[in-house]
Amino acid sequence: MKVLVATDKPFAKVAVDGIRKEIEAAGYELVLLEKYGEKAKLLEAVKDVNAIIIRSDIIDAEVLDAAKELKIVVRAGAGYDNVDLAAATAHNVCVMNTPGQNSNAVAELAFGMMVMAVRNFYNGTSGTELMGKKLGIHAYGNVGRNVARIAKGFGMDIYAFDAFCPKEVIEKDGVKAVSSAEELYAACNVVSLHIPATAETKNSINYELVNKMPKGGVLVNTARKEVINEAELIKLMEERTDLKYVTDIMPVAHAEFSEKFAGRYFSTPKKMGAQTAEANINAGIAAARQIVGFLKDGCEKFRVNK
Ligand code: 3PG
Repeated sequence: MKVLVATDKPFAKVAVDGIRKEIEAAGYELVLLEKYGEKAKLLEAVKDVNAIIIRSDIIDAEVLDAAKELKIVVRAGAGYDNVDLAAATAHNVCVMNTPGQNSNAVAELAFGMMVMAVRNFYNGTSGTELMGKKLGIHAYGNVGRNVARIAKGFGMDIYAFDAFCPKEVIEKDGVKAVSSAEELYAACNVVSLHIPATAETKNSINYELVNKMPKGGVLVNTARKEVINEAELIKLMEERTDLKYVTDIMPVAHAEFSEKFAGRYFSTPKKMGAQTAEANINAGIAAARQIVGFLKDGCEKFRVNK
C-alpha cells in the first residue's frame, strides 16, 4: 500500500517523521509531496497511491479521477470543506478528518490575535486589556471549548452560541449560553469565530450581525474566509471606524481591507492556526493511524462522507 502526504503547507519535520514511522510500521510505503504549488504536480503524485493525507489541499473530482487506486483521504485537521465529499463518495473513496487534534493550537492563535488587536497592533498607543471584557465564542466545538478554557485564565466574561450544542453542555463549562448569534454579537466586545464553512454558514457573518457589536468591537476569525460577507464587512467598517477585524484566513479582498482599514485590520499571510509542531504531530499521526485502521481493519471512525 502506498500512502501520500500531500501538503502544500508542510507539516513540521518531526510530524512527518512520526507519520512515516506509523505508515512503515504497518508495512506500507510513504511518499511526500510538499509545497507543490501547481495542481498538475498533485495530479501526477496521486496516480498510484491508495491513501492520501492532506491539510487544506483541494481534493476535487479531477484529483479523484486521477487517483485510480485511492481508497481513503484523511484531512489532518478539522474543516473538510476543501474535499468534494459527493465526488469522493461517487469514487468510492472514504474521507475522514481528525477532529480535536489541532484545536488548542488554533485557540491559542485566536488569543494572540485578540491581544494584538486590543493593543492597537503594538503601535505604541494605549490599548485595552482582555480581563473583564465580554468574549463571544461563535460555535462551541473543539476549538471553541479551548478558547473558553484559555479565556478563563484571562479573566474574561465568556458567552457562546452554538446552534447544534445544547445550552447545558456550554453552561457546565461556566460559559453563558445565548440563544442566537444576534444575541452573542450584541453582548460581546470580542467575538471569536469557530463555525465551519458550510452552505448555511457561507457569507453569514454580515453587516447586520457584526453591526450589533458594541463600540470598539473586535472580530477574530480563525475559522474560514468563506463565512464572512466581505463586501458587507467592508461597508460596515467604513461606517464604523471603531471596529477591528483580525483574521488567520486572508480575505479575497485583502488589498482593499489593508488599504482602507490600516490600524484596524490584520491578516496572516498564510493560515497559521494549526502551524505548531504539536498540532502537526497530533493531526498527522492521527491521520496515519486512521489510514492504517481503515486499510487493515475497515475502521471508519471519523468518516465524514457516510
Ligand atoms: C483545520 O481545519 O483543521 C484548520 O483550519 C487548520 O488547517 P490547516 O491544516 O490547513 O492549517
